[in-house]
Amino acid sequence: MSRLWLSCFLLASAPAFAADPFYWGVGHSAFQVEGSPVESDWTRWTRIPGKIADGSNADRATDFWKRYEEDFDLAKTLGANAFRLSIAWERLEPKKGAWDEDALTHYEKIVLAARARGLEPVVTLHHFVLPAWLVDEGGLESKDFPGLFAAYADRVVRRLSNSPASVKWWVTINEPMVLTHAGYLTGEWPPGRTNDARGAMRAAANMARAHLETVRRARTLGNAALKFSVAAHYRVFQPKTDRIWHRAAAKLSNWAFNWQFLEAVHTGKLRFWMPGSEFIRETIPLPDGRSSLDYVGLNYYGRMITELGFDAPFVKVSEGPGPKNDLGWEMYPEGLSIALKELHDGLGLPIFVTENGVADALDDKRPNFVANHVAALKYAQSEGVNVVGYLHWSLTDNFEWAKGLVSRFGLVEVDYATLEKKPRASFETYRKIIEESRE
Ligand code: BGC
Repeated sequence: MSRLWLSCFLLASAPAFAADPFYWGVGHSAFQVEGSPVESDWTRWTRIPGKIADGSNADRATDFWKRYEEDFDLAKTLGANAFRLSIAWERLEPKKGAWDEDALTHYEKIVLAARARGLEPVVTLHHFVLPAWLVDEGGLESKDFPGLFAAYADRVVRRLSNSPASVKWWVTINEPMVLTHAGYLTGEWPPGRTNDARGAMRAAANMARAHLETVRRARTLGNAALKFSVAAHYRVFQPKTDRIWHRAAAKLSNWAFNWQFLEAVHTGKLRFWMPGSEFIRETIPLPDGRSSLDYVGLNYYGRMITELGFDAPFVKVSEGPGPKNDLGWEMYPEGLSIALKELHDGLGLPIFVTENGVADALDDKRPNFVANHVAALKYAQSEGVNVVGYLHWSLTDNFEWAKGLVSRFGLVEVDYATLEKKPRASFETYRKIIEESRE
């Protein structure tokens, strides 16, 4: 057991939560739970045979669109005081320029139902899914993407940041680099391109432009309570050995995956590049002359081991040696302390853990997973990192993208045949952690 990890255990019982109130909660995204979807790149993707591992789709998912109160009741029982959810752009603008006001009103109702149960809403504007009409016009790579996104976001922010919903915590774009990777390099997600480095970097740069424009507009509203960030999927990259070339591989991966995007939106200096792409270099004035990030949204799932090889793609990344979850991802709680510390040192902003979770159908790993990650979070706090909240992914099982419905990330089990929901043992573990933190 390393010294850092030992300290985590020792600190696990110390009441180290400085933020007031500290946000304890859960999160999910529209497409993964809502059901009754409107046509999007992902509804199309799920119709293509072979794209979803178990052949399932998200046509019903957990039916959150209609049964949201059930989820908020469960979150209340958990003792949560925050809930992250996302807005489906394709519902609000099913055809270009044609806005569905009823859908926005429905989201307002959803947010108010969360508020009524003491849950602070954290609202994501884009969680991987694009309206079908936009895909037909070039999707993330379209030169119009930043403006179209900002116009959509502006509508949502104006409505939901106002009373009665009064949403303060906003995530513009969820995991831009994961989307870039899965959509343009591995091809597992729409638009299904493989090794398209140029497309990948164009998409990433466009998401940075969209984020900056969204925050610029939001700051003109003059509401100082509003807080914007992206949700950055941060992987801890560690070299296979101490050899300088493996360390260089770790540094390069860290920059490309973790920092390229964050630096762009923090400084307004876009520098997007990867082998095979053009070099995108552009400076966008920062909204109000300061970072567009009011806080950092951190999605933490694990670490990667890097090595430099002699043949393409030269930098190789693989899972670490520790125990794995159902998807073969290493569970590495120490990495959460490392990620928090690196983000704190690099950006100096409050950090909100907007996702952390595990695929574990049997729920024999999740109870420890939650406890160990919370301990790692406390350790980072004891080292001076300002963490404002922790949102477990996810409250219930949901549609896990290309893996389908088989992957189980929920504190609550969902029977997809009956839609019955049953809290797992880890639900109780997390409930106790929350309760004890308040004593
Ligand atoms: C995404 C979620 C996803 C989770 C588990 C994150 O990358 O934001 O949508 O379900 O990881 O894979």
